[in-house]
Amino acid sequence: MTSHLLALLLFPIALNLPPRYGCTEIIGGRVVSPHSWPYMAAIQRENSTVCGGALVEKQWVLTAAHCELNEPEVRVVLGAHQASIAEKEQQIFKVMRYVPYPQFDRSSKENDIMLLKLNGVAKRNKYVQTLCLPDSYEDIKPGTMCKVAGWGVTSSGKPSKCLQETTLKIVDRKTCQSKYKNPKITSNMLCALGKKLHSKRDACQGDSGGPLICADQYSGIVSFGSGKGCGRRDAPGVYTRLTEKYIDWIKKTISHDRDP
Ligand code: ARG
Repeated sequence: MTSHLLALLLFPIALNLPPRYGCTEIIGGRVVSPHSWPYMAAIQRENSTVCGGALVEKQWVLTAAHCELNEPEVRVVLGAHQASIAEKEQQIFKVMRYVPYPQFDRSSKENDIMLLKLNGVAKRNKYVQTLCLPDSYEDIKPGTMCKVAGWGVTSSGKPSKCLQETTLKIVDRKTCQSKYKNPKITSNMLCALGKKLHSKRDACQGDSGGPLICADQYSGIVSFGSGKGCGRRDAPGVYTRLTEKYIDWIKKTISHDRDP
């Protein structure tokens, strides 16, 4: 009887720990429990992930405007753990329309946000879900804990096969600005740094466009980092903050463009 009970108790744990084929250790991150970020999208060119994103509506992915690729071979993979190989949970789409925020500015990096309209509708299930937009327009306070995920470059210098996540802490804009000569860190941006002094944690190349989740709310989008490299203790990563104007623009864009 007790051994049965023990088996029952351990069974879900065993289910949560599938073999991590070829996946070792974002910067200072860990491989996520597969499909624990069901809204995560991989934006790929020739099977390699160039950006991340989040499914916000069944036919729409929110990402960074600097991820605009405008190439016919770009694909968006939903429901992935290892995005570059075929997995049965995946749903794969092409981009029907790129909708960068109209005032996106490549040099000031202001308004680095974009909607992608998929060429089909995602089926929502255990592996593919939408991420709710924040229900509060309030700024995220310095010290708030956040997490970010992506298939981008790890400390090995190469992109990750498996989705990785890491924990970060919001840094005030003044401190953040002092680490960046330019661009200007505006109130439409959030800065986040690894929470411990000596642990390098950061997003990196290939993680752009991915969601920053702070206190369980979709709060930001991976935008840029220090030109000197990822995971530098002194340079927070910079994220587009999901402000009221962006949330309004997202809602308006999606509702105006709904298929009949
Ligand atoms: N711009 C990069 C990309 O396109 C993301 C950089 C984020 N860097 C950082 N150190 N937080 O993937």
